[in-house]
Amino acid sequence: MANDLLAGKVAVVTGAAQGIGLATARAFAAEGAAVGLLDLNEAKAGDAAAAIEAMGGRAMAGVCDVSDEASVSAAIEAVADKFGPISVGMCNAATLTPKVAIADMALEDWNQALSVNLTGVFLTAKYLIPQMLAAGSGSIVITASQMARVATPLRGPYCATKGALLQLAKVIALEHAGDGIRANTLSPGGIATDRLARQYGDLDRAEREWGPAHPMGRLGQPGEIARAAVYLASDESSFMTGADLLIDGGYAAR
Ligand SMILES: NC(=O)c1ccc[n+]([C@@H]2O[C@H](COP(=O)([O-])OP(=O)(O)OC[C@H]3O[C@@H](n4cnc5c(N)ncnc54)[C@H](O)[C@@H]3O)[C@@H](O)[C@H]2O)c1
Repeated sequence: MANDLLAGKVAVVTGAAQGIGLATARAFAAEGAAVGLLDLNEAKAGDAAAAIEAMGGRAMAGVCDVSDEASVSAAIEAVADKFGPISVGMCNAATLTPKVAIADMALEDWNQALSVNLTGVFLTAKYLIPQMLAAGSGSIVITASQMARVATPLRGPYCATKGALLQLAKVIALEHAGDGIRANTLSPGGIATDRLARQYGDLDRAEREWGPAHPMGRLGQPGEIARAAVYLASDESSFMTGADLLIDGGYAAR
């Protein structure tokens, strides 16, 4: 089902080897974008890019640690070298932090969350913006979380980094509103991905234990976030910048 909403665009998705990033990379490609799938897991990102190409899309994979400036710079340059200036960026990679109270938290775990979830988005945006200036327009979509707004005990670094992303997107939006570059956050509620399988033991248990915390009574699916990412990435959202799109089954409405 392609609507060509991103026809002729070059897109980058970080954390694209699985879950929300993978679903988004597929959706961007189905809408006509050439997509660079960047991830720590080169093999899985490579398989995903090959699968997109096998279906007639344009994709490439790149190994990238979003917390490492040289790695981000090189990965983004490689995508631009292959496909041309990048005008869509989904800054989506995040690390999994242990559930620990602030008083018991190791500085190492705190720093790890900041370096991937927050600095990783800063670095990705830093190297995407010149691409977008060269392309003449752009849309940066940052994956935040409903936990950017609703705090949860034992999730300090996650809530803090995701909350900070809402402000970071607003700053980018203001700095580049005159350049045709938009920046927004996309905030999912609980989505059935490997991330939750790792946190709960398996996805059935995640659905049983966390699904009911969402007023709609279930977890979301990666495709339900990918469709919103297409909206934010494309001209369908042409007057939207510095905003947060919350897609959480009503989680934060309480
Ligand atoms: N699944 C949920 O319930 C949920 C809810 C709200 C927000 N989110 C957010 O959505 C995004 C994607 O979530 P998901 O559930 O698909 O996650 P996931 O953990 O299943 O996948 C994350 C991907 O990011 C990659 N990654 C991790 N560290 C990286 C790094 N330093 N550099 C590059 N890649 C790295 C991993 O290899 C993996 O492929 C994250 O930002 C997450 O915080 C998820």
